[in-house]
Amino acid sequence: MSGFDPDWLDLREPADHRSLANEPLERIAALFAGRETVSVTDLGAGSGSLLRALSPRLGPKQRWTLVDADEGLLAHARTRLSKWADASSDAGGRLLLQKTATEIEVMTLARDLSADPLPAAAAEADLVTASAFFDLAGHDWTEAFVSRLAASGKPLYAPLVYAGEKRFSPAHRLDAAALEAFNRHQLRDKGLGPAMGPGAALGLAEIGRAAGLACLSSPSPWRLDEADEALTRRLASDMAQAIAELPDGPELGEWLAFRLEHAASGVGVAHEDLLLQPG
Ligand SMILES: C[S@@+](CC[C@H](N)C(=O)[O-])C[C@H]1O[C@@H](n2cnc3c(N)ncnc32)[C@H](O)[C@@H]1O
Repeated sequence: MSGFDPDWLDLREPADHRSLANEPLERIAALFAGRETVSVTDLGAGSGSLLRALSPRLGPKQRWTLVDADEGLLAHARTRLSKWADASSDAGGRLLLQKTATEIEVMTLARDLSADPLPAAAAEADLVTASAFFDLAGHDWTEAFVSRLAASGKPLYAPLVYAGEKRFSPAHRLDAAALEAFNRHQLRDKGLGPAMGPGAALGLAEIGRAAGLACLSSPSPWRLDEADEALTRRLASDMAQAIAELPDGPELGEWLAFRLEHAASGVGVAHEDLLLQPG
């Protein structure tokens, strides 16, 4: 499994939250409307960003299980969530949060999902979520996951799946070569088999439909502007760093210098938000 830097997750969180597509969010809110208690298992939860985005759409009492292979990120999630909440306390390892009128109980589960795509504890939740996650996963792993999800009868909300397109402003002659090389790098095995990378949104929807699930896929692009300059800089630097790991990647020194100089002009990044439900 490749490591994710908490600073990167913190930097991208505001863009992630404002990019979420409305239709899947509204459908989830409708699914659980009127329910006093809703339980959610968030796979690859990182620093708990999705809890902060989604909890205002769910009922007054929520139980979240945050699953991630990275214990350091889960510790960061607990710290971030405690600061985000109006009040927080620790009850024997469970975090009890009060946020506006909502009570949220949070458990963290350090678990590598490679051998066990949908842990039994996760399948028992009302809703399974995984944000910015499926582009890391391979086809076979996703098939195994979806087969267990379909058997559980639970819905899956999988927002912010990278969809293979980045449009920087202003254009540079090496943009297409950089994107092609980056997308190739995204296909590398991140611990869940050769990753579906830029094909993950289509792949997940196809696998879901083949398993008899109804799939909604809605675009949720990042549209970064001058207020997001730091994020655009980081995005360009990380792209160049990833491409440098390829044995045959293009030389991008000039491209990166240009992208950093013009980072305030922004970039659009394609993502898809998926909702899979029993058909
Ligand atoms: C791009 S981050 C997304 C984090 C969070 N969902 C968000 O939206 O900010 C992907 C997350 O998946 C986790 N992850 C990757 N491979 C994993 C695996 N095999 N088992 C469990 N978690 C994994 C990483 O540790 C990381 O936290």
